[in-house]
Amino acid sequence: MSTQLSNFRYFFLARIYDAALLWFYQPLVRRLVAAVNAEAGDNVLEVGVGTGISLAYYDPRKQVTAIDCSLPMLQRARKKAAEHPEVQVDLQHAAGEDFQHEAGRFEHVVFCNSLSVVENPGQLLNAYYASLRPGGHIYLLNHFTPERGPLRQLDRLLTPAGKLLGFKSFFPLSPLLAPDATVKIRHGRAGYWRIVHIQKPLSPPC
Ligand SMILES: C[S@@+](CC[C@H](N)C(=O)[O-])C[C@H]1O[C@@H](n2cnc3c(N)ncnc32)[C@H](O)[C@@H]1O
Repeated sequence: MSTQLSNFRYFFLARIYDAALLWFYQPLVRRLVAAVNAEAGDNVLEVGVGTGISLAYYDPRKQVTAIDCSLPMLQRARKKAAEHPEVQVDLQHAAGEDFQHEAGRFEHVVFCNSLSVVENPGQLLNAYYASLRPGGHIYLLNHFTPERGPLRQLDRLLTPAGKLLGFKSFFPLSPLLAPDATVKIRHGRAGYWRIVHIQKPLSPPC
């Protein structure tokens, strides 16, 4: 696993994570999960589930597999899952890069603020897109560096600080997207925090 440094960080962050992020972040997570619930297909994979902020919002009909490479974060997610026994969730200790699953098993793959913390986001996203069932969906909730303007410069400047804290400060969306994917921005079209919905075509492009 190339996640040892990340695990070291989240060993400390696990204690303060919810309190630090909940005030602005929880409504976005709720919105993302509502979008998942509204689509057909019951098999959901959440990569980098963290403390499990999203778990309470899943429709009980969805069968959620949620993975994270940090045990302290996962421990908190287990507590949240226990508080919501109506939600069907299987929590597993695994890195997104190593998680073994058969192609087409999931109709939905969710990355909530986790794509920008992995070592090679484009590669990971492509791998999950490739294994997604045709017609399936990927949902990203993340900050995305705007195409222009002062925030773009700021994200560049903050790159070293981001590296230290374990996330990619400079994180534009367009290089991450597969050319045949249908992309909908569900929240904050030009905003910094966006919910991005990517749908795989039902049949491969000619
Ligand atoms: C910023 S937190 C987001 C947690 C949660 N999804 C949320 O929205 O609150 C990033 C999470 O991704 C996990 N993570 C980092 N690298 C990972 C990887 N390669 N595979 C799986 N999880 C990873 C971390 O342990 C952490 O729990």
